[in-house]
Amino acid sequence: MRTQVVIIGGGPSGLLLGQLLHTQGIKAVVLERKTRDYVLSRIRAGILERGTIALMHEAGVGARLEKEGYVHDGTIISYGDEDFTVNFKEHTGTSVVVYGQTEVTRDLYDAREAAGLETVFNVEQVQIHGADTDASYVTYEVDGAEQRIDCDYIAGCDGFHGVSRQAIPLSVRKEYEKVYPFGWLGILSETPPVNEELIYAASERGFALCSMRNENLSRYYIQCSLSDKPEDWTDEAFWQELKRRIPKAHADKLVTGPSIEKSIAPLRSFVTEPMRWGRLFLCGDAAHIVPPTGAKGLNTAASDIHYLYQGLKQHYREHDSTGLDAYSEKALARVWKAERFSWWMTNLLHRFPDQTAFDLKMQKADIDFLRSNREAQSVMAQNYIGLPY
Ligand code: APR
Ligand code: PHB
Repeated sequence: MRTQVVIIGGGPSGLLLGQLLHTQGIKAVVLERKTRDYVLSRIRAGILERGTIALMHEAGVGARLEKEGYVHDGTIISYGDEDFTVNFKEHTGTSVVVYGQTEVTRDLYDAREAAGLETVFNVEQVQIHGADTDASYVTYEVDGAEQRIDCDYIAGCDGFHGVSRQAIPLSVRKEYEKVYPFGWLGILSETPPVNEELIYAASERGFALCSMRNENLSRYYIQCSLSDKPEDWTDEAFWQELKRRIPKAHADKLVTGPSIEKSIAPLRSFVTEPMRWGRLFLCGDAAHIVPPTGAKGLNTAASDIHYLYQGLKQHYREHDSTGLDAYSEKALARVWKAERFSWWMTNLLHRFPDQTAFDLKMQKADIDFLRSNREAQSVMAQNYIGLPY
Protein backbone atom coordinates (compact mmCIF):
# COMPACT_ATOMS: atom_id res chain seq x y z
CA MET A 1 0.00 0.00 0.00
CA ARG A 2 1.10 3.57 -0.60
CA THR A 3 -0.20 6.85 0.82
CA GLN A 4 1.04 10.41 1.12
CA VAL A 5 1.10 10.75 4.92
CA VAL A 6 1.05 7.96 7.51
CA ILE A 7 -0.34 9.29 10.77
CA ILE A 8 0.72 7.18 13.76
CA GLY A 9 -1.82 7.63 16.58
CA GLY A 10 -5.56 8.28 16.48
CA GLY A 11 -5.78 10.73 19.38
CA PRO A 12 -6.79 14.37 18.88
CA SER A 13 -3.50 15.32 17.14
CA GLY A 14 -3.60 12.55 14.54
CA LEU A 15 -7.31 12.88 13.87
CA LEU A 16 -7.21 16.67 13.50
CA LEU A 17 -4.32 16.41 11.04
CA GLY A 18 -6.19 13.70 9.12
CA GLN A 19 -9.31 15.87 8.71
CA LEU A 20 -7.33 18.97 7.71
CA LEU A 21 -5.36 17.03 5.08
CA HIS A 22 -8.63 15.61 3.77
CA THR A 23 -9.91 19.14 3.04
CA GLN A 24 -6.92 19.50 0.64
CA GLY A 25 -7.30 16.06 -0.93
CA ILE A 26 -4.02 14.91 0.67
CA LYS A 27 -4.18 11.17 1.35
CA ALA A 28 -3.46 9.89 4.84
CA VAL A 29 -3.90 6.65 6.80
CA VAL A 30 -4.28 6.72 10.59
CA LEU A 31 -2.77 3.82 12.58
CA GLU A 32 -4.17 3.49 16.12
CA ARG A 33 -2.94 0.99 18.71
CA LYS A 34 -6.27 0.82 20.55
CA THR A 35 -9.94 0.94 19.54
CA ARG A 36 -12.13 4.00 19.00
CA ASP A 37 -14.06 3.23 22.21
CA TYR A 38 -10.86 2.97 24.21
CA VAL A 39 -9.59 6.32 22.90
CA LEU A 40 -12.97 7.90 23.73
CA SER A 41 -12.93 6.58 27.28
CA ARG A 42 -9.94 8.75 28.24
CA ILE A 43 -10.97 11.86 30.17
CA ARG A 44 -8.76 14.88 29.62
CA ALA A 45 -8.90 18.66 30.03
CA GLY A 46 -11.60 20.63 28.28
CA ILE A 47 -10.51 24.21 27.59
CA LEU A 48 -10.16 25.21 23.94
CA GLU A 49 -8.23 28.26 22.78
CA ARG A 50 -9.58 30.32 19.87
CA GLY A 51 -6.86 28.93 17.57
CA THR A 52 -7.87 25.36 18.36
CA ILE A 53 -11.51 26.21 17.66
CA ALA A 54 -10.60 27.86 14.35
CA LEU A 55 -8.74 24.70 13.33
CA MET A 56 -11.75 22.54 14.22
CA HIS A 57 -13.87 24.74 11.95
CA GLU A 58 -11.26 24.56 9.19
CA ALA A 59 -11.36 20.77 9.51
CA GLY A 60 -15.16 20.89 9.11
CA VAL A 61 -15.89 19.68 12.64
CA GLY A 62 -16.82 22.88 14.46
CA ALA A 63 -20.63 22.69 14.42
CA ARG A 64 -21.34 20.79 17.65
CA LEU A 65 -18.61 22.65 19.49
CA GLU A 66 -20.24 25.95 18.49
CA LYS A 67 -23.61 24.73 19.79
CA GLU A 68 -22.62 22.90 22.95
CA GLY A 69 -19.37 24.58 24.06
CA TYR A 70 -19.46 27.00 27.00
CA VAL A 71 -17.83 30.36 26.45
CA HIS A 72 -15.69 31.48 29.39
CA ASP A 73 -14.67 35.12 29.57
CA GLY A 74 -12.40 34.78 32.59
CA THR A 75 -11.27 32.68 35.52
CA ILE A 76 -11.18 32.97 39.29
CA ILE A 77 -7.95 32.66 41.23
CA SER A 78 -8.35 32.09 44.95
CA TYR A 79 -5.96 32.08 47.87
CA GLY A 80 -7.42 30.86 51.13
CA ASP A 81 -10.80 32.60 51.46
CA GLU A 82 -9.93 35.41 49.09
CA ASP A 83 -10.47 35.44 45.38
CA PHE A 84 -10.27 37.64 42.30
CA THR A 85 -11.13 37.33 38.63
CA VAL A 86 -8.80 37.56 35.66
CA ASN A 87 -11.04 38.73 32.85
CA PHE A 88 -9.78 37.36 29.52
CA LYS A 89 -12.33 39.23 27.44
CA GLU A 90 -11.47 42.59 28.92
CA HIS A 91 -7.72 42.13 28.45
CA THR A 92 -7.63 40.37 25.09
CA GLY A 93 -11.05 40.85 23.51
CA THR A 94 -11.52 37.11 23.37
CA SER A 95 -12.45 34.12 25.53
CA VAL A 96 -11.95 30.34 25.76
CA VAL A 97 -14.52 27.58 25.31
CA VAL A 98 -15.15 24.63 27.63
CA TYR A 99 -15.69 21.53 25.49
CA GLY A 100 -14.25 18.21 26.64
CA GLN A 101 -11.36 16.65 24.75
CA THR A 102 -13.46 13.48 24.55
CA GLU A 103 -16.06 15.39 22.54
CA VAL A 104 -13.37 16.87 20.27
CA THR A 105 -12.10 13.35 19.60
CA ARG A 106 -15.61 11.98 19.04
CA ASP A 107 -16.42 14.71 16.49
CA LEU A 108 -13.16 13.98 14.64
CA TYR A 109 -13.82 10.21 14.55
CA ASP A 110 -17.41 10.79 13.34
CA ALA A 111 -16.19 13.07 10.54
CA ARG A 112 -13.44 10.61 9.60
CA GLU A 113 -15.94 7.77 9.34
CA ALA A 114 -18.50 9.88 7.45
CA ALA A 115 -15.82 10.76 4.88
CA GLY A 116 -14.85 7.08 4.56
CA LEU A 117 -11.21 7.76 5.50
CA GLU A 118 -8.98 4.87 6.46
CA THR A 119 -8.17 4.20 10.11
CA VAL A 120 -6.51 0.95 11.15
CA PHE A 121 -7.24 0.06 14.78
CA ASN A 122 -5.47 -2.45 17.05
CA VAL A 123 -2.14 -2.05 15.28
CA GLU A 124 0.88 -3.60 16.98
CA GLN A 125 4.63 -3.49 16.43
CA VAL A 126 4.52 -0.17 14.55
CA GLN A 127 7.95 0.61 13.12
CA ILE A 128 9.21 3.59 11.15
CA HIS A 129 11.73 2.86 8.38
CA GLY A 130 13.92 5.16 6.31
CA ALA A 131 12.64 8.42 7.80
CA ASP A 132 16.00 9.99 6.91
CA THR A 133 15.92 8.69 3.32
CA ASP A 134 13.73 9.28 0.28
CA ALA A 135 12.05 5.90 0.70
CA SER A 136 10.25 5.95 4.01
CA TYR A 137 7.68 3.37 5.05
CA VAL A 138 5.90 2.12 8.14
CA THR A 139 5.36 -1.52 9.08
CA TYR A 140 2.88 -2.84 11.63
CA GLU A 141 0.94 -5.95 12.58
CA VAL A 142 -2.78 -6.48 12.77
CA ASP A 143 -4.05 -9.89 13.94
CA GLY A 144 -0.49 -11.20 13.66
CA ALA A 145 -0.12 -10.31 9.97
CA GLU A 146 2.61 -7.84 9.00
CA GLN A 147 1.59 -4.88 6.82
CA ARG A 148 3.62 -2.18 5.10
CA ILE A 149 2.67 1.33 3.94
CA ASP A 150 5.06 3.37 1.80
CA CYS A 151 4.67 7.12 2.20
CA ASP A 152 6.06 10.59 1.60
CA TYR A 153 5.84 11.68 5.22
CA ILE A 154 5.13 10.29 8.69
CA ALA A 155 3.30 12.25 11.39
CA GLY A 156 4.21 10.90 14.84
CA CYS A 157 1.02 11.65 16.79
CA ASP A 158 1.29 8.64 19.11
CA GLY A 159 1.46 10.38 22.46
CA PHE A 160 4.11 10.32 25.17
CA HIS A 161 4.47 6.50 25.19
CA GLY A 162 4.46 6.06 21.42
CA VAL A 163 7.23 4.79 19.13
CA SER A 164 7.72 7.87 16.93
CA ARG A 165 9.91 9.90 19.26
CA GLN A 166 12.10 6.82 19.91
CA ALA A 167 12.71 6.51 16.15
CA ILE A 168 14.84 9.67 16.27
CA PRO A 169 18.44 8.65 17.09
CA LEU A 170 19.70 9.67 20.52
CA SER A 171 22.60 11.46 18.85
CA VAL A 172 20.07 13.89 17.33
CA ARG A 173 17.43 14.02 20.07
CA LYS A 174 17.63 16.17 23.18
CA GLU A 175 15.01 15.87 25.92
CA TYR A 176 14.14 18.34 28.67
CA GLU A 177 12.08 17.20 31.62
CA LYS A 178 10.77 18.36 34.96
CA VAL A 179 8.77 16.01 37.18
CA TYR A 180 6.69 17.67 39.90
CA PRO A 181 6.52 16.08 43.37
CA PHE A 182 2.71 15.69 43.36
CA GLY A 183 -0.26 14.64 41.25
CA TRP A 184 -3.86 15.69 40.61
CA LEU A 185 -6.70 13.57 41.86
CA GLY A 186 -9.65 14.29 39.58
CA ILE A 187 -13.30 13.35 39.76
CA LEU A 188 -16.23 13.73 37.42
CA SER A 189 -19.66 14.05 39.02
CA GLU A 190 -23.17 14.60 37.72
CA THR A 191 -23.68 17.73 39.78
CA PRO A 192 -24.04 21.40 38.77
CA PRO A 193 -20.69 23.28 38.70
CA VAL A 194 -20.01 25.26 41.87
CA ASN A 195 -19.35 28.39 39.81
CA GLU A 196 -19.89 29.68 36.28
CA GLU A 197 -16.17 30.29 35.76
CA LEU A 198 -13.32 27.96 36.67
CA ILE A 199 -11.73 28.41 40.08
CA TYR A 200 -7.97 27.83 40.36
CA ALA A 201 -7.46 27.61 44.11
CA ALA A 202 -4.21 27.94 46.06
CA SER A 203 -4.49 26.99 49.71
CA GLU A 204 -2.35 25.97 52.63
CA ARG A 205 -3.54 22.39 52.08
CA GLY A 206 -2.55 22.39 48.41
CA PHE A 207 -4.04 23.26 45.05
CA ALA A 208 -7.62 22.61 43.88
CA LEU A 209 -9.47 23.27 40.63
CA CYS A 210 -13.20 23.56 40.02
CA SER A 211 -14.05 22.95 36.38
CA MET A 212 -17.01 21.62 34.46
CA ARG A 213 -18.24 19.95 31.28
CA ASN A 214 -21.85 21.18 31.24
CA GLU A 215 -24.58 22.45 33.59
CA ASN A 216 -24.94 19.05 35.21
CA LEU A 217 -21.43 17.65 34.89
CA SER A 218 -18.59 18.94 37.03
CA ARG A 219 -14.88 18.19 36.99
CA TYR A 220 -12.92 18.82 40.19
CA TYR A 221 -9.28 18.23 41.05
CA ILE A 222 -7.17 18.36 44.20
CA GLN A 223 -3.40 18.24 44.43
CA CYS A 224 -2.43 14.90 46.00
CA SER A 225 0.63 12.94 46.97
CA LEU A 226 2.29 10.79 44.29
CA SER A 227 1.91 7.76 46.54
CA ASP A 228 -1.91 8.20 46.78
CA LYS A 229 -4.17 5.78 44.91
CA PRO A 230 -7.66 6.78 43.69
CA GLU A 231 -9.15 3.98 45.83
CA ASP A 232 -7.59 5.60 48.95
CA TRP A 233 -9.98 8.49 48.44
CA THR A 234 -13.68 7.95 49.17
CA ASP A 235 -16.01 10.46 47.49
CA GLU A 236 -16.76 11.89 50.92
CA ALA A 237 -13.06 12.45 51.69
CA PHE A 238 -12.57 14.08 48.30
CA TRP A 239 -15.46 16.55 48.77
CA GLN A 240 -14.32 17.43 52.28
CA GLU A 241 -10.79 18.13 51.14
CA LEU A 242 -11.99 20.17 48.14
CA LYS A 243 -14.17 22.33 50.41
CA ARG A 244 -11.23 23.05 52.67
CA ARG A 245 -9.15 24.34 49.74
CA ILE A 246 -11.63 26.72 48.08
CA PRO A 247 -13.05 29.96 49.56
CA LYS A 248 -15.81 29.36 52.11
CA ALA A 249 -18.38 31.25 50.03
CA HIS A 250 -17.93 28.70 47.23
CA ALA A 251 -17.54 25.69 49.55
CA ASP A 252 -20.93 26.51 51.10
CA LYS A 253 -22.56 26.37 47.65
CA LEU A 254 -20.81 23.19 46.46
CA VAL A 255 -23.26 20.47 45.42
CA THR A 256 -21.70 17.05 46.00
CA GLY A 257 -22.68 13.65 44.66
CA PRO A 258 -21.24 10.28 43.69
CA SER A 259 -18.19 10.38 41.42
CA ILE A 260 -18.58 8.71 38.03
CA GLU A 261 -14.84 8.73 37.40
CA LYS A 262 -11.86 9.12 39.69
CA SER A 263 -8.21 9.08 38.65
CA ILE A 264 -4.78 10.44 39.52
CA ALA A 265 -2.44 12.09 37.02
CA PRO A 266 1.19 12.91 37.81
CA LEU A 267 2.43 16.36 36.70
CA ARG A 268 5.31 16.69 34.29
CA SER A 269 6.87 19.20 31.90
CA PHE A 270 8.66 17.58 28.95
CA VAL A 271 9.96 18.71 25.56
CA THR A 272 11.96 16.85 22.93
CA GLU A 273 14.00 18.64 20.28
CA PRO A 274 13.98 18.67 17.30
CA MET A 275 10.38 17.89 16.35
CA ARG A 276 11.37 16.82 12.86
CA TRP A 277 13.80 14.17 11.67
CA GLY A 278 13.89 13.73 7.90
CA ARG A 279 10.39 12.69 6.83
CA LEU A 280 9.16 12.19 10.40
CA PHE A 281 7.32 15.01 12.19
CA LEU A 282 6.42 14.75 15.89
CA CYS A 283 3.16 16.36 17.05
CA GLY A 284 1.34 16.78 20.37
CA ASP A 285 2.13 14.58 23.36
CA ALA A 286 4.69 12.61 21.32
CA ALA A 287 6.90 15.71 21.47
CA HIS A 288 5.88 17.54 24.64
CA ILE A 289 3.92 17.31 27.86
CA VAL A 290 2.71 20.18 30.03
CA PRO A 291 1.31 19.96 33.55
CA PRO A 292 -2.49 20.46 33.33
CA THR A 293 -2.44 23.83 35.15
CA GLY A 294 -3.51 26.23 32.40
CA ALA A 295 -4.97 23.52 30.12
CA LYS A 296 -2.35 23.79 27.38
CA GLY A 297 -2.00 20.08 26.43
CA LEU A 298 -4.61 19.83 23.69
CA ASN A 299 -4.00 23.41 22.58
CA THR A 300 -0.25 22.95 21.99
CA ALA A 301 -1.06 19.72 20.12
CA ALA A 302 -3.41 21.78 17.92
CA SER A 303 -0.79 24.44 17.20
CA ASP A 304 1.70 21.74 16.10
CA ILE A 305 -0.95 20.40 13.76
CA HIS A 306 -1.53 23.89 12.37
CA TYR A 307 2.17 24.29 11.45
CA LEU A 308 2.44 20.79 9.99
CA TYR A 309 -0.78 21.12 8.03
CA GLN A 310 0.31 24.46 6.55
CA GLY A 311 3.69 22.96 5.64
CA LEU A 312 2.17 19.90 3.97
CA LYS A 313 -0.40 22.01 2.11
CA GLN A 314 2.33 24.30 0.77
CA HIS A 315 4.43 21.28 -0.22
CA TYR A 316 1.69 19.44 -2.11
CA ARG A 317 0.01 22.49 -3.64
CA GLU A 318 2.93 24.75 -4.43
CA HIS A 319 5.88 22.31 -4.41
CA ASP A 320 7.42 24.55 -1.76
CA SER A 321 8.96 22.94 1.31
CA THR A 322 9.68 26.15 3.25
CA GLY A 323 6.88 25.46 5.75
CA LEU A 324 7.97 21.88 6.37
CA ASP A 325 11.57 23.00 6.82
CA ALA A 326 10.49 25.57 9.42
CA TYR A 327 8.14 23.15 11.25
CA SER A 328 10.34 22.18 14.18
CA GLU A 329 11.54 25.70 14.87
CA LYS A 330 8.07 27.27 14.67
CA ALA A 331 6.31 24.59 16.69
CA LEU A 332 8.99 24.60 19.40
CA ALA A 333 8.97 28.38 19.73
CA ARG A 334 5.29 28.25 20.67
CA VAL A 335 5.60 25.06 22.72
CA TRP A 336 8.27 26.55 24.98
CA LYS A 337 6.06 29.55 25.74
CA ALA A 338 3.19 27.24 26.69
CA GLU A 339 5.63 25.21 28.81
CA ARG A 340 6.66 28.40 30.59
CA PHE A 341 3.07 29.40 31.26
CA SER A 342 2.04 25.97 32.61
CA TRP A 343 5.17 25.82 34.77
CA TRP A 344 4.49 29.34 36.09
CA MET A 345 0.85 28.56 36.96
CA THR A 346 1.89 25.28 38.57
CA ASN A 347 4.53 27.02 40.70
CA LEU A 348 2.16 29.85 41.59
CA LEU A 349 -0.64 27.68 42.93
CA HIS A 350 0.74 24.39 44.33
CA ARG A 351 2.32 23.46 47.63
CA PHE A 352 5.75 21.88 47.21
CA PRO A 353 7.03 19.44 49.85
CA ASP A 354 10.37 21.25 50.23
CA GLN A 355 8.98 24.80 50.25
CA THR A 356 10.66 27.09 52.79
CA ALA A 357 8.95 29.99 54.60
CA PHE A 358 10.73 32.28 52.13
CA ASP A 359 9.39 30.33 49.14
CA LEU A 360 5.86 30.67 50.52
CA LYS A 361 6.27 34.44 50.83
CA MET A 362 7.46 34.61 47.21
CA GLN A 363 4.43 32.64 46.08
CA LYS A 364 2.07 34.87 48.03
CA ALA A 365 3.76 38.01 46.63
CA ASP A 366 3.35 36.63 43.11
CA ILE A 367 -0.39 36.08 43.70
CA ASP A 368 -0.78 39.53 45.30
CA PHE A 369 0.95 41.14 42.32
CA LEU A 370 -1.34 39.33 39.91
CA ARG A 371 -4.34 40.40 41.97
CA SER A 372 -3.43 44.07 42.00
CA ASN A 373 -1.71 44.63 38.66
CA ARG A 374 -3.61 45.03 35.41
CA GLU A 375 -0.57 44.31 33.24
CA ALA A 376 0.15 41.09 35.13
CA GLN A 377 -3.47 40.04 34.56
CA SER A 378 -3.17 40.97 30.91
CA VAL A 379 -0.07 38.77 30.57
CA MET A 380 -1.92 35.87 32.17
CA ALA A 381 -4.99 36.44 29.99
CA GLN A 382 -2.93 36.51 26.76
CA ASN A 383 -1.27 33.23 27.66
CA TYR A 384 -4.47 31.57 28.83
CA ILE A 385 -6.51 32.38 25.72
CA GLY A 386 -3.53 31.22 23.63
CA LEU A 387 -0.57 32.99 22.04
CA PRO A 388 -0.88 33.67 18.28
CA TYR A 389 0.31 30.97 15.85
N1 APR B 1 1.00 2.93 17.34
C1 APR B 1 -0.20 3.48 17.07
N2 APR B 1 -0.86 4.28 17.93
C2 APR B 1 -0.27 4.53 19.10
C3 APR B 1 0.99 3.99 19.45
C4 APR B 1 1.63 3.17 18.50
N3 APR B 1 2.82 2.61 18.77
N4 APR B 1 1.31 4.43 20.69
C5 APR B 1 0.30 5.20 21.10
N5 APR B 1 -0.67 5.26 20.15
C6 APR B 1 -1.94 5.99 20.20
C7 APR B 1 -2.59 6.03 21.56
O1 APR B 1 -3.40 4.87 21.77
C8 APR B 1 -3.42 7.30 21.47
O2 APR B 1 -4.73 7.06 20.99
O3 APR B 1 -1.67 7.35 19.90
C9 APR B 1 -2.68 8.17 20.46
C10 APR B 1 -2.05 9.38 21.11
O4 APR B 1 -3.06 10.21 21.64
P1 APR B 1 -2.83 11.21 22.86
O5 APR B 1 -1.98 10.55 23.88
O6 APR B 1 -4.15 11.73 23.25
O7 APR B 1 -1.90 12.37 22.24
P2 APR B 1 -2.28 13.53 21.22
O8 APR B 1 -3.18 13.06 20.13
O9 APR B 1 -1.00 14.20 20.89
O10 APR B 1 -3.19 14.49 22.07
C11 APR B 1 -2.69 15.45 22.93
O11 APR B 1 -3.84 14.54 24.76
O12 APR B 1 -2.71 13.88 26.69
C12 APR B 1 -3.52 14.82 26.12
O13 APR B 1 -2.94 16.79 27.23
C13 APR B 1 -2.82 16.10 26.07
O14 APR B 1 -4.73 17.12 25.43
C14 APR B 1 -3.51 16.70 24.95
C15 APR B 1 -3.72 15.68 23.96
C1 PHB C 1 -10.61 20.36 33.06
O1 PHB C 1 -11.74 20.82 32.94
O2 PHB C 1 -10.42 19.12 33.06
C2 PHB C 1 -9.44 21.25 33.22
C3 PHB C 1 -9.62 22.62 33.13
C4 PHB C 1 -8.55 23.47 33.29
C5 PHB C 1 -7.29 22.97 33.54
C6 PHB C 1 -7.09 21.60 33.61
C7 PHB C 1 -8.18 20.74 33.47
O3 PHB C 1 -6.25 23.82 33.72
